[in-house]
Amino acid sequence: MERTFVLVKPGAVARGLVGEVLARFERRGFRIRAMKFLQVDRELASEHYAEHREKDFFSDLVSSITSGPVAAFVLEGPEAISVIRRMMGVTNPLAADPGTIRGDHGLDIEANIVHGSDGPESAEREIALYFSESEIV
Ligand code: RTP
Ligand code: MG
Repeated sequence: MERTFVLVKPGAVARGLVGEVLARFERRGFRIRAMKFLQVDRELASEHYAEHREKDFFSDLVSSITSGPVAAFVLEGPEAISVIRRMMGVTNPLAADPGTIRGDHGLDIEANIVHGSDGPESAEREIALYFSESEIV
């Protein structure tokens, strides 16, 4: 069993897609271990996306992730990190396969519906960033 961190981004929350995104993961068989609805502030956004600090899209990324409430989850299941990344589709929705979340729900890379951890270290780091131990059950 593996745990990963998933976040439904503000644009998708505003469009009413939280249930749609979560339902896909639940139907696939992943279990919810933690969930939270929150407003990300600039400090948390900068920590979350620290790997992108030097990129030219960083300030747009921080603005986007702080633009409204998000829904955050710890999901658990076999090979959760890689399976969920495949279900999300590639970063640019224009290139994401139909049938994936990004491939079915948008065209804008800045509003690509969902974030998912990209490896075991980032999963651990991101889970700890958004959830305390007692919030994971
Ligand atoms: P995420 O971290 O959100 O799950 O997305 P990802 O791994 O597929 O992609 P990553 O390279 O980590 O990029 C993080 C987010 O930054 C935005 N982005 N914009 N304008 C651009 O060229 C650009 N590149 C990336 C996307 O919203 C991406 O999800
Ligand atoms: Mg990433």
